Amino acid sequence: MCGIVAYIGNKDPKPIIIGGLHRLEYRGYDSAGILVCNNSEYQLTKITGKVNALSKMLETKPNIAPHLGIGHTRWATHGIPNDKNAHPHYSNSGKLYMVHNGIIENYDSLKMELINRGYSFYSDTDSEVLVNLIEEIKVKENVKLHKAVQLALNQVVGAYGIVVCDTFNPKELIVARLGSPLAIGLGESSFYVGSDATPFLDHTRKVVYLEDNEMAVLSKNGKINIKNIISDEPIHPYIEELQWSLNSIQKGGYRHFMLKEIHEQPKAISDTLRGRLLVDKGTIQINSINEYKEKFLNAKRIVFVACGTSWHASLVGEYLFEYFIRIPVEVEYASEFRYRDPIIEKDDIVICISQSGETADTLAALKIAKEKGAFIYGICNVVGSSISRETHSGIYTHAGPEIGVASTKAFSTQITVLILIALKLAELKKTFDSRQLHDYQAELSQIPGKIEQLIKTSSSIDEIAKNYSDSQNCIYLGRGFNFPVALEGALKLKEISYIHAEGYPAAEMKHGPIALIDKNMPVVVIATKKTNYEKVVSNIQEIKSREGKIIAIVSEGDETVAKLANHVIEIPNVSECFTPILATIPLQLLSYQIAINRGCNVDQPRNLAKSVTVE
Ligand code: F6R
Repeated sequence: MCGIVAYIGNKDPKPIIIGGLHRLEYRGYDSAGILVCNNSEYQLTKITGKVNALSKMLETKPNIAPHLGIGHTRWATHGIPNDKNAHPHYSNSGKLYMVHNGIIENYDSLKMELINRGYSFYSDTDSEVLVNLIEEIKVKENVKLHKAVQLALNQVVGAYGIVVCDTFNPKELIVARLGSPLAIGLGESSFYVGSDATPFLDHTRKVVYLEDNEMAVLSKNGKINIKNIISDEPIHPYIEELQWSLNSIQKGGYRHFMLKEIHEQPKAISDTLRGRLLVDKGTIQINSINEYKEKFLNAKRIVFVACGTSWHASLVGEYLFEYFIRIPVEVEYASEFRYRDPIIEKDDIVICISQSGETADTLAALKIAKEKGAFIYGICNVVGSSISRETHSGIYTHAGPEIGVASTKAFSTQITVLILIALKLAELKKTFDSRQLHDYQAELSQIPGKIEQLIKTSSSIDEIAKNYSDSQNCIYLGRGFNFPVALEGALKLKEISYIHAEGYPAAEMKHGPIALIDKNMPVVVIATKKTNYEKVVSNIQEIKSREGKIIAIVSEGDETVAKLANHVIEIPNVSECFTPILATIPLQLLSYQIAINRGCNVDQPRNLAKSVTVE
C-alpha cells in the first residue's frame, strides 16, 4: 500500500516520478506528492486526489532544473486523505524530506518524546514523526544522514519502506526497508527507486531488491552502498535483470486494466502450465514438489493461509486436494491465523497463497507457521516478493503483472497451479491410476482454449448487466468446487460496483438467507452439471417461487435451468474440478460491466489498494 518513486541522476526527475506514480497508483490513490530539488532550490507539491491532479498542479510551477526527486501516492492509514497528510513529509528545520510506505506502530510515544524536545507537527501521520526523529538524531549525534536514518530506524517498531533526502545537501537518497518492498533501478550514474520495479521499467532493467532490515545510500556520483540496519554489516548488491515487457504493464488498447487482465487469462494460464504440464509424457513437472517429494508424501495435513481472493483460491484448493489426494485440508484467513496461537503439527505443510507476495497478514502468518516448525510452501505471482523469499519452497503462477485492483487472472492462475499440484501429488501418491491422470492432464491443456472461446461468446453478459446495474444487493450461490466461486463472484461485485453482495453454499439458503429473496433480489447461481446439479436446480426452484431474479451459470447445452432462470450464461463442458476456472470468468465480466454501467472506477475502487502491506 502506498507507492513510492524516487530518482537521483542527471535527468529531470519530474516526468520519471509522475510516470512512475501513475504505474503505482494501484497501491493507493487518495493523495499524492512530489519533492524535487537541485543544489540550491527545492519545490514541494502535494495534493488530495490522484496522480493526474498532482501532475496538473506541477505544470503550474516554475521549473527549477532538479536532479533529485521523491514522490508518493497514498493509501491513508494515519490521518485522513488531505493535502497536509500527503507525502513527502518534512522535518521541523525544513531540510529533510521523506516518503514512507508502512506503519510506525510506536509513533505515538516517539511523537510525545519529540514534542517534549520542542518539535511540532503539522500532520496526523506517523511518517512525519519518523522524519523528525531522523533530524533530531542527526543534529544531536552530529552524524551523517545515513547514520541518523539507521539510528532512527533502530528505534522504530512497525513496517517501512522509506526514501529520505536532505534538500540542503542533495547528493544522495537514503532508502530503507522493513516489511514494505523497495526496488532500486540502476541507470547510467543514476538511480531509480520504486515500491516495485514497474516505475522504471522503461529506463533500466537492472534492479536490486532491498531485503528487510537493509538500507542503501544512493549517491549522485553513481555509487550504491547497502548495509544491514541492525548489524551495520555491508551487503554486496545482488543485481537482477528484469524480464518483464512494457506491454505487460500497459492497457494495450483496453479501457481498463481489469478488462485487459480478464482477457489475458487464456495466455496467463498457458504461461502457468508451460513446462509443467507435460501431457505427451503423461506427467507434471514441478521442481519444488520433486525436491520436497518426501515432505509432501508424508504430510498429514495441509493448511492454506491467505487473504481475499487468494483465500477463495485456497478454498478451491481444499476441494481439489481432498478429491485428488485424500488429505485433510484447512483453509485459514491469514489475519485470524496469525493471532490465534494456531496448532501446527510436525508433518503439516502450510501453503501461503498471495498474488503480490507482500500481503502483511499472510507474511506474518507465514512467519508464525515457520517458527512453529511447519514446512512452508508459497504460491505467488510476483517474482522475488517477500512471501516467495520467506517460504521454504514454492511455485510462481506466472500470470504477469496484475494492475487492476480487483484480482482476476491471479485467481484463475492460482487455481491452475493448485490443479497442477493436486495432479502431481495424485501421481506420486497413486491415488488415481495413470489413465485417469492422463485424461485430466489432457483436459487441463484444453482449458486456455476453452476460456478464449468463452470470452469470445460473452457479449450477452453486457445485456444481462443492464438489468442489474441499479440493484442494491445480490446473492451468489454455488456448491462443491463452485462454492468458492460464489464467494469470489460476490467479492468482485462488491469491490468494484459497491453493490452489497454475499456468496453462500447454495444449500445454506434455507438456513437464513432465503428470507432476503424477493422480486428485487438478483441471485447468481453456479449450476453446472455433475455432482449436486439436481440439488442446485431445487435451490433455483426455491428462489423462483419467491420471485428472485436468477442469473445462472450453466454447462453448455443445459435445458433444465434455462427454463427456470431469467438469464443463463453457458460455459464449456469440463470435468467438475476444472469448473471453478471457467465459471469465474463470466462473473468477472458481469461485475465489470455492472460497475461500468454505474460509472465506477473499476481499476481503482474506492478505499481499496492492491498489495495490502498493512494489517
Ligand atoms: C480482491 C483482491 C484482494 C486480494 C487480497 C490478497 O480482488 O484482490 O482480496 O486477493 O488482498 O492479496 P494477495 O493475493 O496479493 O495476497
